[in-house]
Amino acid sequence: HEQLKPFPAHFLWGAASAAYQIEGAWNEDGKGPSVWDVFTKIPGKTFKGSNGEVAVDHYHRYKEDVALMAQMGLKAYRFSVSWPRIFPQGRGEVNEAGLQFYERLIDELLAFGIEPILTLYHWDVPQALMDEYGAWESRKIIEDFDNYCITLYKRFGGKVKYWVSLNEQNYNTNHAFITGMHPPGVQDRRRFFDANHIAFLANAKAIASFRQYVPDGQIGPSFAYSPAYPASSSPKDMLAFENAEELTNHWWLDVYCWGQYPESALTYLKEKGWAPIIEDGDYELLAAGTPDFMGMNYYQSLTYEFNPVDGVETGEMNTTGQKGSNADTGIPGLYKTTANPNLETTNWDWAIDPTGLRIGLRRMMSRYGLPVMITENGLGEFDKLEADGTIHDGYRIAYLRSHLEQCQQAITDGVDLLGYCPWSFTDVLSWLNGYQKRYGFVYVDRDETDPKELKRIPKDSFYWYRDVIQSNGEEL
Ligand code: BG6
Repeated sequence: HEQLKPFPAHFLWGAASAAYQIEGAWNEDGKGPSVWDVFTKIPGKTFKGSNGEVAVDHYHRYKEDVALMAQMGLKAYRFSVSWPRIFPQGRGEVNEAGLQFYERLIDELLAFGIEPILTLYHWDVPQALMDEYGAWESRKIIEDFDNYCITLYKRFGGKVKYWVSLNEQNYNTNHAFITGMHPPGVQDRRRFFDANHIAFLANAKAIASFRQYVPDGQIGPSFAYSPAYPASSSPKDMLAFENAEELTNHWWLDVYCWGQYPESALTYLKEKGWAPIIEDGDYELLAAGTPDFMGMNYYQSLTYEFNPVDGVETGEMNTTGQKGSNADTGIPGLYKTTANPNLETTNWDWAIDPTGLRIGLRRMMSRYGLPVMITENGLGEFDKLEADGTIHDGYRIAYLRSHLEQCQQAITDGVDLLGYCPWSFTDVLSWLNGYQKRYGFVYVDRDETDPKELKRIPKDSFYWYRDVIQSNGEEL
């Protein structure tokens, strides 16, 4: 564009986090265990056995953290509520102390004029529900999740306008049921598509209830979006790309936004015997629970090429990648991923592709026509705490700047972009990569096993983002 549109006047300049990755206090004030409290203690599941028992102790230091947000001029803060903090058994008696923690946090944010963006579910399902009925593998969870959500709607609906339903259902369910890298550690495509269908139903039901309890609010799921690229213009690669787009993106987005599965993908899964069990009434429920906006977590694009019927068969589909697991993945006969020679990668081998963000935003706009909130985007790196107590993360500034430039291009293209919440505000626990893979604007001095003093230190990117916010994006 010759001339760029400015960022909207009320653009939500934010930052993001998730309960398990920051709170700690895993068994305090009546909280029940989540599946992650149990899974991380199984030897070999996480980097050096790291876990969120203490995390960055946000539960006790939320005031200090919110003060830093205020210092940065943040307009919005995306956080998640831990379900087992509210219902230690997943349902039944509500834990008032858990609600009070989030009430204090929300009030503190509002006191500084920071808009809370509340995520209802960021992967920490109560272990009690896993033990009782296999959590997402049972339709019983639809009602329990709805009840948990309604409890939050009733309590916080008057204070919180923006809500995220499920975080990265696609990525989390993929790791839970295909790669087995997330709890319950299953590798079974059938179970994957069934659990994923149940999650869709729970998502729709929670959104339908939202309409009743928070009529003035806005809600949408956060999707781990890796727009697909074809490796070449050969028709075979183009078809592989179409297949991937259909099965790794539209499979989720069409259901969220339209209440329908994409036809060719559903036909394929039926042929394979992998299609989810769809009961009477399911489509009505899905159609009744469509979102106000789509949350987009964008880290990278993925490039696809032809995969012969006897070709690469690995578990991963549309993952945003993990160090050491970036080998080509795919489904024989459909597609496989391949490195994009045009893109540099991070130390965890994730492709750095700011233009992919613009492409993703435009695809989202043209196919679904909904406003979008970028609920995550960021760079995981090994940061270095210098002897003088500073952290020079110019690489993170470069990453975020280039992605924000593409946001502005997309806004100029006509995308209705509500906000930008980089991952993450402080450094957090990376589920499988421990504390060494850092994303924050604020450094937290701890390592995998030693929480040290958990001192907070703003990085260079903190001051850069402060100035960006102050200029409403005019100075990137
Ligand atoms: C997203 C998640 O998948 O990416 C976050 O919603 C996560 O919870 C983030 O931390 C970065 O992933 P990773 O594996 O680098 O920590």
